[in-house]
Amino acid sequence: MTRSSRSLPARFRLDGRRTLLTGAAGGIGEAIAKTFREAGSSLALIDLDSARLKSLLRSLESSSGPPVFAIRANVTRERDVARAVREAAAKLGGIDIVVNAAGITAKGDVASTDPAVWRRLLDINVTGTFLTCHAAVPYLRRARDGAIVTISSVYSLIGGQNRAAYSTSKGALDALTRSMAADLAKDGIRVNAVNPGFVRSPMTAPSLRDPTAMRFFRSATPLPWLGDPQDVADAILYFAAPASRFVTGVCMALDGGRALGR
Ligand SMILES: NC(=O)c1ccc[n+]([C@@H]2O[C@H](COP(=O)([O-])OP(=O)(O)OC[C@H]3O[C@@H](n4cnc5c(N)ncnc54)[C@H](O)[C@@H]3O)[C@@H](O)[C@H]2O)c1
Repeated sequence: MTRSSRSLPARFRLDGRRTLLTGAAGGIGEAIAKTFREAGSSLALIDLDSARLKSLLRSLESSSGPPVFAIRANVTRERDVARAVREAAAKLGGIDIVVNAAGITAKGDVASTDPAVWRRLLDINVTGTFLTCHAAVPYLRRARDGAIVTISSVYSLIGGQNRAAYSTSKGALDALTRSMAADLAKDGIRVNAVNPGFVRSPMTAPSLRDPTAMRFFRSATPLPWLGDPQDVADAILYFAAPASRFVTGVCMALDGGRALGR
């Protein structure tokens, strides 16, 4: 199936909208950046990895479209995030949409997970998302019809073996999504999350190289295919666009049916 931005109905377009995207240099972040720009949004791309951020910026700038800026920041550092959000708002002229895609993963059950790994993972996945929203919500309030979309995971829905820290971090993000949705609805800010199953990206590269892991993911996924970053970007576009104007507090499985079990 081919995609064309010209065929996007108006309710799925983001013309004139200003998006702050964390984890922009990642596999899913890059697909979101490209999709949002095609849909008409200007962008502030935030990531820790300045080399990949620069290369994404170059590739986006090589085609015409709304303004796009890159800002290096560590989402776990309160001052860094506050500065990046301020800079993004100044460059874009405000912020209407926040997409939280920065995240890491780690394997391990409760006994084998190193407490330092546990802390780092929760710091990036949970506190990083909190700090980003904390700094950005005053700008979203001014927008009057803002949207926050966070990438959670199917692991928050199913638990899943050997992912104690990761499942916990994503469960916290689902709770934060619902809590923010309840608090911010009065300001016209909608807050939703997507819960992807297996998606091909640098994060899943080790599994992609491991035939046993791939056999497992294929057998655990009822649909006869796995996810691509574009599948996640399309769902996030829906949650950011006017098409979902009556939707808030939803954590949506995007997992080929994995949470259904088989
Ligand atoms: N790939 C999958 O199968 C999958 C499935 C479910 C959920 N997710 C979630 O989707 C999101 C994106 O994952 P991805 O697959 O694109 O992974 P990825 O590793 O390609 O991208 C993650 C990005 O986050 C950035 N990042 C990490 N720590 C950061 C920090 N402290 N500050 C700023 N940026 C930081 C990294 O530099 C990287 O660019 C993550 O939250 C991940 O948990 C991925």
